[in-house]
Amino acid sequence: MSVIYSLKNVVKSRLVDGAGFRLRIPSVEIRAQESIALVGHSGCGKSTLLDMLALALHPDAADEFSLTVGDNEVHQIDALWHKKKQNVLAKIRKQHIGYVLQQGGLLPYLTVRENIDLPRMLMNLPEDDSTRSIARVMGIHRQLDKLPGLLSAGERQRVAFTRALSHRPAILLADEPTASLDPITARKIMAVVMELVKGLKITMITASHDWAHVYKMDLRSLHQQAEVLENGNVYQSTFRD
Ligand SMILES: Nc1ncnc2c1ncn2[C@@H]1O[C@H](COP(=O)(O)OP(=O)(O)OP(=O)(O)O)[C@@H](O)[C@H]1O
Ligand SMILES: [Mg+2]
Repeated sequence: MSVIYSLKNVVKSRLVDGAGFRLRIPSVEIRAQESIALVGHSGCGKSTLLDMLALALHPDAADEFSLTVGDNEVHQIDALWHKKKQNVLAKIRKQHIGYVLQQGGLLPYLTVRENIDLPRMLMNLPEDDSTRSIARVMGIHRQLDKLPGLLSAGERQRVAFTRALSHRPAILLADEPTASLDPITARKIMAVVMELVKGLKITMITASHDWAHVYKMDLRSLHQQAEVLENGNVYQSTFRD
């Protein structure tokens, strides 16, 4: 399978007066249709890395940060950030990436149906019956006319996944999408998502602090290693294959 993300010597710091957090990715390649887990404890930089993969946060430095989507079009993401091409980055993101946040991020004043249809609407895509079939597979097809506030936490996360997939992105990013759910519901939802992602040939990258869960799902994981450097001032976190 072709390489989708290629990252070499990517660095992102969150330093105040020389102290704080630094994220490093020496060399990582993510191939089309892989399912990957970013595993590590709280504060190790999982959300920071996902935000960079979502083109929502720029790296401080990168020898390479490329994303290949569509008709084998290679986008040099670090160069686009450098040239302040935010509109190009937003367009790539909107078209090719679906992002599920820890708390779902649904708009409370829109119904479930309107939430799910929003990404397609923003891209001027026509209505699509297959979005309804995703909603059915996710088990939320009876909730379409409700507001998100009337759903259970698990139902809300299933809506968030359905919304993230509705515009058929090549890439699904998920940031601890089931962290607020009980373990049995969490596993059930992730099993359905994994099936969907395989069927739709989507590349999935999910953050999790639940090692056991990740190993059970048989995901390729990026390992995280922590070091304290510079007289204890910098907490450095490195993600590798
Ligand atoms: N906007 C920000 N400004 C400054 N520091 C930040 C910012 N966002 C995150 N950090 C710091 O960066 C580090 C990594 O945070 P991040 O949210 O990526 O961790 P995480 O692995 O997702 O943690 P969790 O499992 O708790 O969600 C933390 O030390 C955090 O305090
Ligand atoms: Mg996080």
